[in-house]
Amino acid sequence: MANKSKFQAIRGTRDLLPPDTALWNRVEQTAHEVFTTFGYGEIRTPILQPTELFARSIGAETDVVSKEMYTFLDEMQRVPDPTDFSVSPVDYVDAVQEAIKTGEIPLTASNMNGIARLKSQLELFNARAGENIVEEAQLKFRLAASQIRFGESVSLSPEATASVCRAYIEHNMQQLPQPVKLYYMGPMFRRERPQKGRYRQFYQIGAEILGGSDAPAIDAELIEMLMTFFAKIELQGTRLDINSIGHSAPPVDGKNICRRGYVDALRVALEKVKDKLGADSQRRIETNPLRVLDSKLEHEQPIIATLPRIADHLCDDCKAHYADVKRQLDLRGVGYHENWRLVRGLDYYMRTTFEITATGLGSQNAVCGGGRYDGLVELLGGPPTKGIGFAIGEDRLILSLQEGGKGAAPQGRDVYVAWMGDKTYATAIRAAKTLRNAGFSVELPPVEQKFGKALERASKLGARHALILGEDEVASGQWTLKTLADGSQQKLTEQALLEYLHTASARS
Ligand code: HAM
Repeated sequence: MANKSKFQAIRGTRDLLPPDTALWNRVEQTAHEVFTTFGYGEIRTPILQPTELFARSIGAETDVVSKEMYTFLDEMQRVPDPTDFSVSPVDYVDAVQEAIKTGEIPLTASNMNGIARLKSQLELFNARAGENIVEEAQLKFRLAASQIRFGESVSLSPEATASVCRAYIEHNMQQLPQPVKLYYMGPMFRRERPQKGRYRQFYQIGAEILGGSDAPAIDAELIEMLMTFFAKIELQGTRLDINSIGHSAPPVDGKNICRRGYVDALRVALEKVKDKLGADSQRRIETNPLRVLDSKLEHEQPIIATLPRIADHLCDDCKAHYADVKRQLDLRGVGYHENWRLVRGLDYYMRTTFEITATGLGSQNAVCGGGRYDGLVELLGGPPTKGIGFAIGEDRLILSLQEGGKGAAPQGRDVYVAWMGDKTYATAIRAAKTLRNAGFSVELPPVEQKFGKALERASKLGARHALILGEDEVASGQWTLKTLADGSQQKLTEQALLEYLHTASARS
């Protein structure tokens, strides 16, 4: 059994090691290239974001926000300390106002209230300064002061859509030519039960289109880009599922329509079969009936098959939008499956939703999810803005590629410099420098090795060639290059060596 080391990666997190990281890099490089050809620019947002951002956008009732976020109060030292009576109330309020300006005290709703209370206490305090109830006024003032939070609740990002929308608003991107097309890649955090393809720190590659219109061609081109990327990295067995989940329209003649009308109909139908459903689905009838459609429980499947379908409830606009998304996908030669059960687990979606699965992943087979979220930017305090995007689970993507035999080979070396004798070392260093500058991967042993030992190590490292530099070679300028695969050897000048290696690498 492996020796249990004292420190191990935290449950649900893992180290990514060579040679696997070479595959991660290839995937990311391809994403940079493909997304750039579609006119997207890269955005990097901080991992730490205000908790409220996710609660508002993803939805406070969703699994991600209610159970899975890594959240903590990023509290700073209280300066001045409200219990320090040597600081007068006037000075205290000045300090608080200064801290608001510098951002040390965040302008949350509860802090706004706290500050208003503080100011009215200060007025009271001033008004009664001459009276002998100063102590009571002091205490009330101190109490109001202690309710101001010097810090805020922050969370490790569980996804990036909300952060990208925040950045769009914060940087006035609505003033740029619309739509703004952005992509990102990086770690996300969700406290889920770890299993194959499901981690607590995982990586996403995503893209968002913000602003402009909601033309169905935008939805279709985004999906086309995604499928182009998957084809480029040769992901096997991809399947694209699409759906439209309508929009939350206001009631017409007191009656819910579109998605709300559907949710009503679904709830009624679910109530009728409640007894046959598991505990989770029973609970969801109340909290979020759409999520019942996500159920993977075997015995619920025949029941779900009989439930009402969203397509029969979409309003005319949503129906037309969905029909046109499909036509636009056809125009682009993108194959898809319509899946009326695809509702997605985050609250911000409307109209187009989609998911891509791939082979070799077992139960966690969704390699990408996305959809339209018009209204999210507005919900976060920005102008009315259309939005659509996706995120690929990079860990799952890599797993699927590896299962399909597309794993990276261990990194070999082009050249192992076997130098012997002190007088050859300077030449060996120069040779390594020249070869590396020309783009070859070179191993230069730090201490002299015997010939046999050097060759043994070269072959262990998977080197293709050994450059043998003894005193004779250095004196004559004729270096010996050994090809390890067949043992052949030849003498080459420094210049000829470079040419030879270039030709050899072009052949392989
Ligand atoms: P999501 O469906 O929550 O959507 O996540 C997208 C993808 O991230 C999933 O399909 C899966 O491949 C991967 N993923 C999620 N959780 C884990 C996990 N614990 N371990 C490994 N992989 C995971 C979103 O995050 C949306 N922000 C996507 C989006 C962008 N919608 C519009 N724009």
